[in-house]
Amino acid sequence: MPHKTALVTGGASGIGKATALKLARQGVTVVISGRNAKKGASAVQEIEALACGQAQVRFMPCDVNDEAAVQRLVRQVVSEFGRLDMAVNNAGIYNESATIDQSDTQNFRDMFETNVLGVYYGMKYQIAQMKQQGGGAIVNLASIAGLNGVPWTGTYCATKHAVVGLTKAAALDHAAEGIRINAVAPGAIHTDIIAAQIEAAEAELDAMHPIGRMGQPEEIAEGIVWLLSQESRFVAGHTLNIDGGFQAK
Ligand SMILES: NC(=O)c1ccc[n+]([C@@H]2O[C@H](COP(=O)([O-])OP(=O)(O)OC[C@H]3O[C@@H](n4cnc5c(N)ncnc54)[C@H](O)[C@@H]3O)[C@@H](O)[C@H]2O)c1
Repeated sequence: MPHKTALVTGGASGIGKATALKLARQGVTVVISGRNAKKGASAVQEIEALACGQAQVRFMPCDVNDEAAVQRLVRQVVSEFGRLDMAVNNAGIYNESATIDQSDTQNFRDMFETNVLGVYYGMKYQIAQMKQQGGGAIVNLASIAGLNGVPWTGTYCATKHAVVGLTKAAALDHAAEGIRINAVAPGAIHTDIIAAQIEAAEAELDAMHPIGRMGQPEEIAEGIVWLLSQESRFVAGHTLNIDGGFQAK
């Protein structure tokens, strides 16, 4: 890849951190953002060590629930690095496993705020910058729960279906401006967000995928980085399943 700058929200752990590492290994300047500066600093150290100094990696604090903070984040990336070529709207939460009648309304509000409005704020300011500079690529984190009903996961499903909808519509609006917007839909992946589910039912999570196991964050990063790259230049508005065959059922 020619020299580029990327932003990964929620990039200090899991899929975001794996994506940042893969980009850094390709020489891309990477900004990871998140709420916890200590966690961010340690992720930067880890990525720099694994990428053997092949790229600049920075942490910038940002809670994606705060629109003004997201706007400042995009401004700060551009003021320090001159442009924003790639953005991954990855920050997300999963705060409740329940049927709709048993679910807590505030939990749904919180999840909607981060998973949907957080992605919306991100795209809003990333697109504005990419329009100014004449192009860019954005990948949003959806889920198999953004394409299917998943039992006991109705509220999270709603947020991830919204991410797929936002991705498709924004892709149509901005494709002609040289901005490609896509999403990935991971199956169950070994990360903190589903640590409780993994502890309670790892074998069931493995068995849910025709390939017979859960995924690793690096396997999702592969797809994200491809969607950000020139190799996928004719792909827009797509949601890429990376799910061990789950969608084929
Ligand atoms: N792990 C899975 O099974 C799975 C499956 C499908 C989709 N996803 C999606 O992948 C994305 C990444 O999750 P992950 O699996 O790497 O888990 P993770 O918990 O390691 O990563 C999520 C990151 O987002 C950050 N975050 C949460 N709320 C935030 C906020 N308000 N502002 C800024 N940062 C915030 C967290 O601190 C964390 O670093 C999420 O959007 C998640 O919904 C995960």
